[in-house]
Amino acid sequence: MNAIETIGLEHIYADGTVALSGVDFEANPGERVAVLGPNGSGKTTLFYHFNGLIRPTAGEVRVFGKNISKENIDTVRRRVGIVFQDPDSQLFAPTVSEDIAFGPKNLGMAAQDIKDRVAEALRRFDIEELAKKNPANISEGQKRRVAIAGVVVMEPDILVLDEPTCGLDACGVAGTMEILDELNGEGKTIIISTHDTELAASWADRVYILNKGKIFRKGAPRHIFADEKLISEAGLKHPAIVQTFREFHARGISKGDVPLSVLELMDSIDAKLMSIRCAIAGFDVSAGNEVYLGMKDGMLVAGSVPTGVKGKAVFGGKKGEDIAVKDVAGDLQQLAGSITIIRVPGIIEGGSRAVDIGKVREILEKENARKIGAMGTSAKVLVNKMRIKCDFEFDVAQSGMLAALRGFNAVIFASGGMAERVIERVREKKIKHTYFTL
Ligand SMILES: Nc1ncnc2c1ncn2[C@@H]1O[C@H](COP(=O)(O)OP(=O)(O)OP(=O)(O)O)[C@@H](O)[C@H]1O
Ligand SMILES: [Mg+2]
Repeated sequence: MNAIETIGLEHIYADGTVALSGVDFEANPGERVAVLGPNGSGKTTLFYHFNGLIRPTAGEVRVFGKNISKENIDTVRRRVGIVFQDPDSQLFAPTVSEDIAFGPKNLGMAAQDIKDRVAEALRRFDIEELAKKNPANISEGQKRRVAIAGVVVMEPDILVLDEPTCGLDACGVAGTMEILDELNGEGKTIIISTHDTELAASWADRVYILNKGKIFRKGAPRHIFADEKLISEAGLKHPAIVQTFREFHARGISKGDVPLSVLELMDSIDAKLMSIRCAIAGFDVSAGNEVYLGMKDGMLVAGSVPTGVKGKAVFGGKKGEDIAVKDVAGDLQQLAGSITIIRVPGIIEGGSRAVDIGKVREILEKENARKIGAMGTSAKVLVNKMRIKCDFEFDVAQSGMLAALRGFNAVIFASGGMAERVIERVREKKIKHTYFTL
């Protein structure tokens, strides 16, 4: 059963504007869906239908298999939370915490329960210091965060966010997307609209492109973004990674499917085609000499001790200088370090309070952690509590994997369901890894 489905959805506004026509949309439970499309293409109008804010002129809207009706509209509104494009239209209480408490109060929750939920939402969205402020007097980015918190606090099964990253700084975007990932890891369906093709490419399971009220194209991001003509025709920007890949591909450097992340772009490069540049560690090399490649401080170095991956020097050099190496026998991934994934109970499982800190210290010592990152609320709270300094702030899973490929031992603290997703990716990449559940 779909979490949300529209069939032949049409919407004509009172002034005769045909905002949507023949829209067949679906989002599966637990799926991450991104809706792209130029201004006025109908994204907001479509989202308004998902919880019955406006009625279709024709066609159907189903939530978990049921058509929205007068009888079930309250249930639908509880299960589908919408964060509006303009946070000002959502925030109206005299203080930020009252604003976040508004939804739960409306649902008639017990006072203590509301208090706990609001406190948790303030922490999750890192807006505790705004709690007593008037939402009219906070910054645009902060407003957006408060608006999202006010919907998340109701614990809907489906979260619909209209341009959630618009107006946020880089940290704000990363933080927001991480919270959405975390909620997704808890099983929630997430639907966003965005003008950011990089974000849609790297984040979504499924992408819709709207144009003039119609679905121009839908599919997996890899298919959508591989189609150069389609993206241009849709008036969208090509993600930089895809563009880089195309240029590499045209020059015979990259091969395979279109990459959607830095990691995948690295994979697409056919290293065997090229000579590899690296520094010589502690000896002089003549052209044609055999050298052994290894990783040191995240860089490739050529040594004389027969360990690592063998290659042949193209030209010679003195110690400390750079040389080029060809005929590399073996996969450079052999030189990769490892990843330790530490699963921290998610907020709904008790969060960092449920953690034995002694055990964490033991793991860190044993694994000789060199690069550390934390993803999701409970993991971040834990590392802060333990005063562990993190090396990655953005895109933690990918950064950890890239660090491992550069020879480091990376440790990723991941909250709840996010951990399983990381493991899946690490396995796919065949990076040496260990997994601990706290
Ligand atoms: N209340 C309204 N009355 C009449 N027309 C409307 C109304 N709201 C939106 N429209 C029209 O419906 C079409 C779709 O608008 P919508 O806001 O859904 O687009 P959008 O894709 O969300 O655009 P944006 O990227 O600018 O947010 C546009 O042509 C718009 O002018
Ligand atoms: Mg809109």
